[in-house]
Amino acid sequence: MVLISSSFCHNLLHICFIFLLLPQCCFCGSDLDALLLLKKAMIGPQGSGLEDWKPSPHNYCSFSGVSCDHQSRVVALNVSDLPLFGSIPAEIGLLNKLINLTLTSNHLTGRLPMEISNLTSLQLFNISGNLFRERFPGEITLGMTELEVLDAYNNNFTGSLPVEIVSLKKLKHLHLGGNYFTGEIPKNYSEIQSLEYLGLNTNCLTGKFPASLGRLKNLKELYVGYFNSYSGGIPPELGRLESLQVLDMSNCSLTGTIPTTLGILKNLHSLFIYSNHLTGNIPPQLSRMESLKSLDLSINGLTGEIPQSFSELNNLTLLNLFRNNLYGRIPNFIGDLPHLEVFQVWENQFTFELPQSLGRNGRLKDLDVTGNHLTGLIPRDLCIGGRLRTLILMENYFFGADP
Ligand SMILES: *[C@@H]1O[C@H](CO)[C@@H](O)[C@H](O)[C@H]1NC(C)=O
Ligand SMILES: *[C@@H]1O[C@H](CO)[C@@H](O)[C@H](O)[C@H]1NC(C)=O
Ligand SMILES: *[C@@H]1O[C@H](CO)[C@@H](O)[C@H](O)[C@H]1NC(C)=O
Ligand SMILES: *[C@@H]1O[C@H](CO)[C@@H](O)[C@H](O)[C@H]1NC(C)=O
Ligand SMILES: *[C@@H]1O[C@H](CO)[C@@H](O)[C@H](O)[C@H]1NC(C)=O
Ligand SMILES: *[C@@H]1O[C@H](CO)[C@@H](O)[C@H](O)[C@H]1NC(C)=O
Ligand SMILES: *[C@@H]1O[C@H](CO)[C@@H](O)[C@H](O)[C@H]1NC(C)=O
Ligand SMILES: *[C@@H]1O[C@H](CO)[C@@H](O)[C@H](O)[C@H]1NC(C)=O
Repeated sequence: MVLISSSFCHNLLHICFIFLLLPQCCFCGSDLDALLLLKKAMIGPQGSGLEDWKPSPHNYCSFSGVSCDHQSRVVALNVSDLPLFGSIPAEIGLLNKLINLTLTSNHLTGRLPMEISNLTSLQLFNISGNLFRERFPGEITLGMTELEVLDAYNNNFTGSLPVEIVSLKKLKHLHLGGNYFTGEIPKNYSEIQSLEYLGLNTNCLTGKFPASLGRLKNLKELYVGYFNSYSGGIPPELGRLESLQVLDMSNCSLTGTIPTTLGILKNLHSLFIYSNHLTGNIPPQLSRMESLKSLDLSINGLTGEIPQSFSELNNLTLLNLFRNNLYGRIPNFIGDLPHLEVFQVWENQFTFELPQSLGRNGRLKDLDVTGNHLTGLIPRDLCIGGRLRTLILMENYFFGADP
């Protein structure tokens, strides 16, 4: 009895197994078909690549760049650096189990098809480095509740920034930089509380920079400059971005003064706000940014002296203040900063002599003080570390020998 029962179970298992296989095969057909249609559309009339994507019912899971789950459904597509020149076809929507979709640096063009909205399991969507055009259809993301990464950097998107992404609760990395987006940054991007990385740099954005973005508590990196042209200044509310490590608001027409509140950013290691129209003094409070390594305030209308409090910025490696209206002495502590590698203050109104200790940290690489009113001896130990590659002292009143 026992033996018969066992063999019966074995047979039953066999039957179940066949049943399990059936739906799998229905799906394999359509995923294979979808991949072949994708290949045809993406290659376009002139492209090449994906040579191993050939009709054959069973091995499409080993096509280059394709990964499947145990039911042979395609879960990841990673096709990069190929001369494809075509576009993404509507059939992408058939690959509705996709988790990772990476189609980067392939010369792909055209509009993004609305059928992408069928990919509701997507966690990573990276189409950077292509030539996708026209508006970014934000609607396609409405059902993508799992999306963590949206990277559309360096494409040809135009129109306004998508507002629909505001409802993506898991979005950590959003890069829409390097496009031709116009209009304002939506105020309610502040609602994407999961955001850790926000790149909107190198677009054609205008309007006031939204103060509301100060509410992005988890934000670590914020890149919003270059070719954007905001009206108004840096909102003091950005001092609330307690996780921020990098802030780049360079070359984007900012006016007004540097908010003292930025000093609260304890984790900030890079602050780039060069090439704007900022005025007023350098706030002494910036010395409270204890992680600061790179500070670039060049090409602005800043005036006053280098704050004495900056002697506390012990981790500073780069300090660029060129093309401003700064004056006074270059404080002695500048020569004592232990990690300083780059110090460029050309075209200001600095007077008196340079700190004689400059270079003694053994790390100095670039020193450019051209076009000030400096005098006295050229510091003797500039080359002591053997790393100096740029030394420009022109248009000053130095005397004594070169080091
Ligand atoms: C998706 O990409 C992420 C990050 O590269 C990786 O950790 C994950 O394993 C990938 N998932 C799949 C299904 O390929
Ligand atoms: C895609 O493939 C490249 C290598 O071809 C790899 O470096 C990259 O990490 C992959 N991306 C994902 C998301 O798996
Ligand atoms: C979306 O996925 C379903 C499978 O769940 C499929 O039947 C349908 O054709 C897909 N729609 C599009 C537009 O690709
Ligand atoms: C997207 O792909 C590009 C090119 O492969 C890569 O450099 C970038 O890091 C990727 N983005 C993310 C967020 O992984
Ligand atoms: C992308 O934009 C650049 C600059 O405007 C333009 O020269 C190029 O023709 C565009 N390409 C496509 C495919 O739209
Ligand atoms: C976000 O703001 C835009 C206007 O900038 C509005 O059209 C959109 O409906 C808002 N979305 C949410 C989810 O609040
Ligand atoms: C700064 O922006 C202007 C246009 O707004 C552009 O001409 C210039 O090349 C940009 N400079 C940098 C370094 O991006
Ligand atoms: C300063 O730099 C040192 C060495 O690079 C590092 O150990 C320390 O954590 C840094 N301090 C801060 C506040 O980042």
